Amino acid sequence: MSALNDLIARLPKAELHLHIEGSLEPELMMALAQRNGIELPYKTVEEIRAAYEFSNLQDFLDIYYVGMNVLQTEQDFFDLAWAYLERAHADNVRHVEIFFDPQGHTERGIAFATVIDGLTRALEQAEDRCGLTSQLIMCFLRHLSEVAAFETLEQAMGHLERIDGVGLDSSEMGHPPSKFERVFARAGELGLKRVAHAGEEGPPEYIYEALDLLQIDRVDHGNRALEDTELVQRLVDSKMALTVCPLSNLRLCGVERLEDHPLKRMLELGLLATCNSDDPAYFGGYVNDNFRRTAEAVGLTAGEIITLARNSFIGSFLPQDAIARHLAEIDAVIASELA
Ligand code: ADE
Ligand code: ZN
Repeated sequence: MSALNDLIARLPKAELHLHIEGSLEPELMMALAQRNGIELPYKTVEEIRAAYEFSNLQDFLDIYYVGMNVLQTEQDFFDLAWAYLERAHADNVRHVEIFFDPQGHTERGIAFATVIDGLTRALEQAEDRCGLTSQLIMCFLRHLSEVAAFETLEQAMGHLERIDGVGLDSSEMGHPPSKFERVFARAGELGLKRVAHAGEEGPPEYIYEALDLLQIDRVDHGNRALEDTELVQRLVDSKMALTVCPLSNLRLCGVERLEDHPLKRMLELGLLATCNSDDPAYFGGYVNDNFRRTAEAVGLTAGEIITLARNSFIGSFLPQDAIARHLAEIDAVIASELA
């Protein structure tokens, strides 16, 4: 293993941009389809993988929403989350802030409680067995209406002790953050953190809206901020974290080649960028794969890799004392590398 890959493997890190439904590997998808008697449009795991050829976000979402049909029972949501958490633990992920899409399930007649009970049982087991801590971020599907988002927030009311924040995902173009200004204001009143996908495909204006109208605490993706120098300066000055997902950007054609990915440029500009996997089962890599392949493609230095690991905790919603403990652990790894 190269020295940089060894460093990536050894560094403690947090993952801040992970859709749990996007961690559904084809093998588990087939197994759950059989267990639940669900017909999939694919016969084999190979056929599923072969379908993962995307030219934009919508191509991916069309397949992603079909895949999640196999998730039916509390045990299915447990199995899904546990598989991800074991994989994350193997990558030295110490803390994860997980997105879930309740509307992708409630729209199919699955109860909100079934989803959240299964997920939280796995999260509790990961903390007990591996010391892996987590938070849950409930996303609103932005292609659906404001009314539907309010209904989802209402369904969450009985479970707020297990929900740390709200997010905004799905088809970005044509669904600006302004559509959800009121529902995000309500979420803020409830004490929930607020994040939003912005600037993945959408223009810098969507990032301004997410900041000014949704009052977000973190930007998911944010790549297109780089088109606007004033916006970059604002993000730098406010130490706003960006949850960047290089292999996702490659597979959804936000960049043509990984060598063109802006992650290194973001760090050079002083942005609080982090490196994440987004939907690892669909985009060909978990968090360490994202670090390794991007490091190689754009020439990240050891110092930049360490900065990304540090940023993942600094940009997290952990309390300050927990952040300080994780940063001290990173310092200990660096010291042992130099010894
Ligand atoms: N839902 C799952 N992954 C997503 C992404 N990368 N962008 C928007 N919505 C998503
Ligand atoms: Zn995402």
